[in-house]
Amino acid sequence: MKKYCYGTCFLISIAINILFSIYLYLGGGDRWVAKNPDITYGSPLTWTEKAAEEAEAVAAISCSGHGIAFLDGRISDGQPVCECYDCYGGTDCSELSPGCAADADSGDPIFLEPFWMQNAAASAVVIPGWHRMSYRYADDTLMSTELETYIRKLHSIVGNAITEGRYMVFGVGSSQLLSAAVYALSSENSSSPSNVVASIPFYPMYKSQTVLFNSENFQFEGDTNSWQSNNQTNNTDVIEFVTSPNNPDGELKKSVLGGKTIYDHAYFWPHFTPIPGPSDHDLMIFTLSKLTGHAGTRFGWAIIKDKDVYEKFLNYIFTAYLGISKDTQLRVLKLLKVAIEQDGKPLFQFAYNKMRDRWDRLTSVLSKSTRFSTQNRHHLHCNFFNKTRLPSPAYVWVKCEREEDDDCGAVLEAGNIISRSGRVFSAKDRYTRLSLIKSQDDFELLLKRLTELVSLEKNSIETM
Ligand SMILES: Cc1ncc(COP(=O)(O)O)c(C=O)c1O
Repeated sequence: MKKYCYGTCFLISIAINILFSIYLYLGGGDRWVAKNPDITYGSPLTWTEKAAEEAEAVAAISCSGHGIAFLDGRISDGQPVCECYDCYGGTDCSELSPGCAADADSGDPIFLEPFWMQNAAASAVVIPGWHRMSYRYADDTLMSTELETYIRKLHSIVGNAITEGRYMVFGVGSSQLLSAAVYALSSENSSSPSNVVASIPFYPMYKSQTVLFNSENFQFEGDTNSWQSNNQTNNTDVIEFVTSPNNPDGELKKSVLGGKTIYDHAYFWPHFTPIPGPSDHDLMIFTLSKLTGHAGTRFGWAIIKDKDVYEKFLNYIFTAYLGISKDTQLRVLKLLKVAIEQDGKPLFQFAYNKMRDRWDRLTSVLSKSTRFSTQNRHHLHCNFFNKTRLPSPAYVWVKCEREEDDDCGAVLEAGNIISRSGRVFSAKDRYTRLSLIKSQDDFELLLKRLTELVSLEKNSIETM
């Protein structure tokens, strides 16, 4: 009887173990362990392995090369769904919607996504729950000194800015630093506000921020050249934005007034322009967005000569925002470590090849057109690549040449191309901007639509 009882118990125990193993194998265990986080089973994953497993699982979701699934994306059937590029749809982004417009409007720098996929291992970061919970670093500052060191290293490798003996301030993208710069350069004690100017065509944020902040200390006065011709005697209380290379036309701009300047160097990287030498201005602003393509990370930095200006900058960032995210700073550090590998050659060669290829293909299409022209590009020596080369700007500044085409954005729109009209940059609508820094799919569609539009010119001549 006793033997019989032991035997039954043994069989029941085996059955329970089999059932439990099946339950764990089918994933029920995940839910169970999630409810009981201190209990592990089988060969437990460490917290880094668990994080890696999650990240790798989402990276393995196939979106047919026309989209990406993200860990923080929308969930369907328990897993994140593919986020498709424009004009692609379906659960795996494999369906191209015919007749879809080519959207070349935004300056989203997705063209560098493939580089970071190729460098997945070197650029990934694991952030534990307890990472830098404090407002401050151990040295009581709001900025990582290690990151600052890497930014200085990067500038010295690229040769695009002098940083020795200069102060540095980080911001939430360069956008935040643009308004900090206006605040820092404006005169607080003067009876009238400082005048803020920029040369047409200019990046619209200079105006919209200055107007939004609506300060007693500064006001937006519009175009630099117009301001100069109307105010020849008084250049003292003017803050001039100098965007070099310029958005939208890629020109390497210089100051017109030679007074207080904010050099916006968002695009002063070898992908977009030859680097003729290091910039050495009183106040220079850079952004990660157009350097590595991580616009979503929201990180920029200012390089400042004057101590008083630096302190006003710090005061602005401290009072308005209490500094910037420590998680962001960790991620940027990781990205810059990759950026400076092999003296920056892999990143900048990749980015420059991409931009040059896009310009070559685009100019080949537009060379057949008399209806559309683009900005002139001139050869210049590039110290970084040690060769003479053409600029490969982030944007094409298109001009419609026909008298009747005075709204170039509308002309392109009729050809199924979305661009950014000249008026956005305080210029004439005879001009419009096309972005060349979006995804490869976006670029291919843009080229297709432009080719169709240009071929209409040939057809209209043949039918005349
Ligand atoms: C000339 C220029 N400056 C600044 C910015 C802002 O960049 P972010 O705020 O992403 O650093 C941009 C973005 O397109 C830009 O074109």
